[in-house]
Amino acid sequence: MCGIVAAAADKNIVPILVEGLKKLEYRGYDSAGLAVIGADRIERVRSVGRVAELESASADTASPTGIAHTRWATHGVPSERNAHPHVSGSIAVVHNGIIENYESLRSELTAQGYVFTSDTDTETIAHLVDQLLKSDRDLFRAVQAACRRLVGAYAIAVIDHSQPGRVIVSREGSPLLLGLGDDGNYAASDASALLQVTRKMVYLENGDIAELSRDGVRIERLDGTPVERPVHVSELSAAAVELGNFRHYMQKEIFEQPEALANTLEIVGGSKTIQPGIFGAEAATLLNDVDHILILACGTSAHSGMTARYWLEAVAGVPCTVEIASEYRYRTSVPNPRQLIVAISQSGETADTLAALRHAKSLGQTKTLAICNVPESAIVRESALRFITRAGPEIGVASTKAFTTQLAALFLLTLVVAKVRGQLGADQESAYIDQLRHLPVAVNKVLTLEDEITVWARRFADKQHALFLGRGRHYPIALEGALKLKEISYIHAEAYPAGELKHGPLALVDANMPVISVAPADDLLEKLKSNLQEVRARGGELYVFADADSEIPESEGVHMLRLPEHYGLLSPILHVIPLQLLSYHAALVKGTDVDKPRNLAKSVTVE
Ligand code: F6R
Repeated sequence: MCGIVAAAADKNIVPILVEGLKKLEYRGYDSAGLAVIGADRIERVRSVGRVAELESASADTASPTGIAHTRWATHGVPSERNAHPHVSGSIAVVHNGIIENYESLRSELTAQGYVFTSDTDTETIAHLVDQLLKSDRDLFRAVQAACRRLVGAYAIAVIDHSQPGRVIVSREGSPLLLGLGDDGNYAASDASALLQVTRKMVYLENGDIAELSRDGVRIERLDGTPVERPVHVSELSAAAVELGNFRHYMQKEIFEQPEALANTLEIVGGSKTIQPGIFGAEAATLLNDVDHILILACGTSAHSGMTARYWLEAVAGVPCTVEIASEYRYRTSVPNPRQLIVAISQSGETADTLAALRHAKSLGQTKTLAICNVPESAIVRESALRFITRAGPEIGVASTKAFTTQLAALFLLTLVVAKVRGQLGADQESAYIDQLRHLPVAVNKVLTLEDEITVWARRFADKQHALFLGRGRHYPIALEGALKLKEISYIHAEAYPAGELKHGPLALVDANMPVISVAPADDLLEKLKSNLQEVRARGGELYVFADADSEIPESEGVHMLRLPEHYGLLSPILHVIPLQLLSYHAALVKGTDVDKPRNLAKSVTVE
């Protein structure tokens, strides 16, 4: 994950920038850079490799104002020309996230004579700010105007050589906080980078823009309205991962999903196509004659696999089976050497998934792919191909951001397999990539439903049981909703494909059984509505997560929350978010230990 550090102080801040980047190293990166306001120009140092190399390369650089960045490009060779900061005229910019409308901005700026020297979307921001500075010389106003034109998820920091002592930062979707020091003011992606200079932190909200100078900070909204944000005094040790404004890691991690998705999808960059190489150098050869996909995983990771099965069969036309790893490893199965084995795991150390992978290989099935959040884990090391999700550390035992990033990775796999099998036209590919790129923004909008979901959660907290319903690719999302609710609130919850109701579980439905339904406007909606009628007719109370296009009227006993967008094939990624929030808030009301539910461990390294 990319990391940002910025400083405006009354002393040389280069050592602070470098130390801050070191603290962000855990997020993963492959290049690093910094830019400071020098005597007669922006001085920029970039290096491919470790922050330690940047430290040596910048040993002679000194300034009271600067910005710094770590970047993790997982596609192509990480290069100095793509490393941040990016410079245009007298300004320099660092950026985390994805700018969705970067192509149209790039065409517009190219037509005005700007020459791009990198493949990044970030350089667009640099040129855009430079262009806006021509009509208003004030850096704050220019960055504010530039941000109003950006579509996507981002955190940025900008300096201008002609306006020394000022750093402008803004965020939408990606995290950014300010650190208030005695001899200067700072900004960073997370607090760990700033504990070296201050414990006084200000967490910026989406749509905030702030100016840091040696003497203070000021914050406005992008429309120019001034705002105040509370100052938090961090009590954590420099080694800990900061909770920030959140009460629990689970809540923090739910809200980190736009950034986690943006980081995971950074591999696609601004491209209209994706290449098999994102899964490893040998992917094109290895995927070439695959005739079946077998997904092995446990728990939440198995639910991402079950969702992917709908995509792989519908889009790529490849048969797919999903098996719980602990079952597969002990069952006598029929091996197929042309089968791709996909092991999905957040930790990469889950004993059953690792054993299932080894078992599959022992049967002569060598086409293996790991989808994992931990690059150096055993499952990654032992697989021929790999895709590392970039969710960042997941501390809460209940998996949230790891799940949605797994889904993003699995959709990329679907597109790659479809391409290799000649099932994907260029227009369709580019349309799917656009949809993926918009995901961080779409997830942000879903997160705004938290208050309404909290009200629902209060009604649940005294229930003993709950039933989750979904159909098609949303059935695994119902399963995931039920798993989340039971593991952190201890309310017994089960999920069914809605069509199965009348084959047994309907007997359980009465006024004490809340029924939660995932109901996007897909081709099964009409069928689902009939199933919901069956529940209503038995006095069951319905809680329905519809989307912008689902036509379901609210009525007595039928509570509705609408997700802001309809998201087609990718809709499972949006629909799981309210279910995560529902479980989290139900658990809060019940007063359980949300981040460490009883009897459970984060990494299940024993059988
Ligand atoms: C549930 C949860 C677990 C894990 C499962 C597999 O919230 O987190 O069900 O998904 O233990 O773990 P990984 O993905 O690390 O293999």
